[in-house]
Order: sequence, then structure tokens, then C-alpha cells
Amino acid sequence: MNIETVAIQSTTHTDSQYGSIGTPLYQTSNFRFRSPGVSTGYDYTRSGNPTRNTLEQVLAELEGGAGAVAVSTGMSAIATVLEHFDSGSHIICTHDCYGGTARLLNLFKDQGKFEVSFVDLSDPISLLDSIQPNSRCLWIETPSNPLLTVVDVEALAAIAHSSNLLVCVDNTFLSPFNFLPFEFGADVVIHSTTKWLNGHSDVCGGAIISKTTELAERFKYLANALGTSTGVFDSWLVLRGIKTLGVRMRQHEANALVIAAFLEKHPNVSQVFYPGLASHPTHELAKRFQKGYGGVISFRIRGSYENEVCHVLGSTKIFALAESLGGVESLIEHPATMSHASMGAELREKAGITDDIIRISIGIEHIDDLLADLSQALDFSCFAEKQSAFTAKEEVVA
Ligand SMILES: Cc1ncc(COP(=O)(O)O)c(C=O)c1O
Repeated sequence: MNIETVAIQSTTHTDSQYGSIGTPLYQTSNFRFRSPGVSTGYDYTRSGNPTRNTLEQVLAELEGGAGAVAVSTGMSAIATVLEHFDSGSHIICTHDCYGGTARLLNLFKDQGKFEVSFVDLSDPISLLDSIQPNSRCLWIETPSNPLLTVVDVEALAAIAHSSNLLVCVDNTFLSPFNFLPFEFGADVVIHSTTKWLNGHSDVCGGAIISKTTELAERFKYLANALGTSTGVFDSWLVLRGIKTLGVRMRQHEANALVIAAFLEKHPNVSQVFYPGLASHPTHELAKRFQKGYGGVISFRIRGSYENEVCHVLGSTKIFALAESLGGVESLIEHPATMSHASMGAELREKAGITDDIIRISIGIEHIDDLLADLSQALDFSCFAEKQSAFTAKEEVVA
């Protein structure tokens, strides 16, 4: 079945008792035993719940994995996966990863739990150079955030596997609609389901999907042991969001392609980062690995943070000034002071996340309204007036 069909059908045939089309919501913390020692298959919701299990089955099917566990946030997915590794392990991570991922890895590094290397994975050879005898995990984010650099997952996974590293891919930015990391060598896929999978900005959630049954069992065990498994109502909401994944992702991308082309021609924008543009340095890699380009665009403003950048951030009316991405609503944010503030200035500078970069998440509003909103926000004539008034005053003084 195609992914649009899986997203709907696998959530539709779950009620054997009454045949409800909607997934039943088992909003309960515990389950009555049939008799001493004989459960219904469920005993306590942290360990398992039929609504959450349906979500886990759907996620595994969408990604093509052997099993999944749904956890409370994207960060708890990352933290749960990292618990798999013994202390003293060396973790290699994409250098321009999500700020929260960098913060957690740096925390573990400072506590002496892990050795961590942030590496520019755009050249697979740099991975080869960074592997040590204690390296255990390669953490890939593709496309990276916020510069949207696509990496050669297949080559990286082959190198990592030759040294027995576990290859984990954060597939939050693309969703299984646009990219299937298991097809290119990933062992584990994680998601912040907060983003495209839920798609309606009303849930924080995460997921770990595993290629093998053994890994799936291991992460289910860890989620139960750590207590990171997600709530039942949140599971139900994500299930409902997933049903429209296909139509939403198509519309997000259709809007994003038009907006990226508009920004590329705009005189007040000096650079656009969107892998769907032929001008993007990793456009060819995106075409090779991805089925689509997603709905996130970053761009560089001609001007200073204090003036032009803040003007754009403060002037949009449809694009809400907010962190996160992947909802039906369009959002605008400033990576250096918002999503990537926790990364720290040094790592940001190394990753090229400068103060003139703005990131937008493209919603599914009408394209004409989105273009009009960006167009008025990118009008810098107020600065031109200030500039000419300043020049005129200087002339009078002179
Ligand atoms: C790529 C990526 N991974 C993980 C996360 C963390 O997800 P959550 O906010 O659900 O914890 C985010 C959040 O923005 C993200 O962008």
C-alpha cells in the first residue's frame, strides 16, 4: 500500500469489539486482570496501552521498521536512545543539529558520561577521520537544521557500520512521507512527532522506530524503565494527525517551492536555503534520497540583526513568531536567539548559523496570502527613509 493509504487504513481497523472507524481512546492508567497472573495483555499504561500501541504500529509501518515506541517528546526519544549506550561511549553527531540535541550531548559530555564529536558530515571522509575505538553511535540529522544541508546517509551508514556504530537518523524534518532512512542503512529512526506527523501544533510527542525486533524491544524496555512513554490522549491526537499526512505534506511543499523561488529573487534576501531549489548545494543529494523537500526554508537577510532582521521577524501577520515547525500554520523564527540558542555561540559559529538567518515553516494557508505577508515584511523602505533623513541632517550640520 502507498503511504497515504497506510496512514489512514492502519488507524481504521483497530476496534475488534464494535468496529469503530475512529481509534478508541483508552484513557486509563491501569487494566483489570482477568484472574491472578492473567492480564488482558495490558496491565499499566506506562508499559503499554492499546491506543498508544496503535500509534506505535502505524509509525513502524510508515517508516518500514520492525517496531516503534511512542515517547513524550522528540527530546525524550533522543534521551531514551542515548540511554542504550554504555558510559564512556563516543557519539558522533551532525555539527549543525537541532540545538536541544547539542545541549543534551554536551550535558552528557560535561558529566563524563560520553565523549562527543560534532562533525560536518557533508563530507563522509570526515566521519572516517572521527571514528575512535570507543565510537558507538552515529547521529544524523538530514536535512540539517536550520541550513537544510542534506547528507549522503547511504555512504555515512556504510562507513559507520564498518566500525559497528549504530546509525540513528532524526527524520523529524522530512517525515516518512518524504524520506525513509531504513532504505539507506539507518538502524534507528527518531521523530519529534510534535512536527509534521501530528501537524496541528497541539501536541508534544516523540517516537523511536527500529529496524530490527531486538532494537525495538530494547527501546520499549528503556521507555518503560525510564518512564518516557507518551500519554494516551497525545497518542490519539498524533494518530488523528497522521491520517492527513499525505495531503498536508504535498501542500506544505507546493507552498514552500513557490516561496523559496520568491525569496531567491528578492533584493533584500542574500541567500536561500531550501533543498528543493536547484541552486541549493545539496539539491542533487536531496533528489537522490528524498521523495520530497519538505516545508522548512531558511534565508539570509541583507542587513543587521537589530534593524532589518528584527523588522522582518516583527512585521509578519500570518507567519507567527514562534519556535517549532511542521504545523498547518506558517511560523517564522530566528535560530540564533530561539531554536538554536541552547547550542552555544561557539558551536553555532562552527555550523554557520549566523545572526542574519531567519527560518520559516510553511503552513497550508493560501499561497497568495503567504507571499503578500512576506512581501510586506521584507519591505525595508522605512530604513531607506531613516537613512535619507540621517544623510540630510548630516548635510545640514556640515
Ligand atoms: C530535528 C529536531 N529533532 C528533535 C527535536 C525535539 O523535539 P521536541 O521539541 O518534540 O522535544 C526538534 C525540535 O524542534 C527538532 O527540530
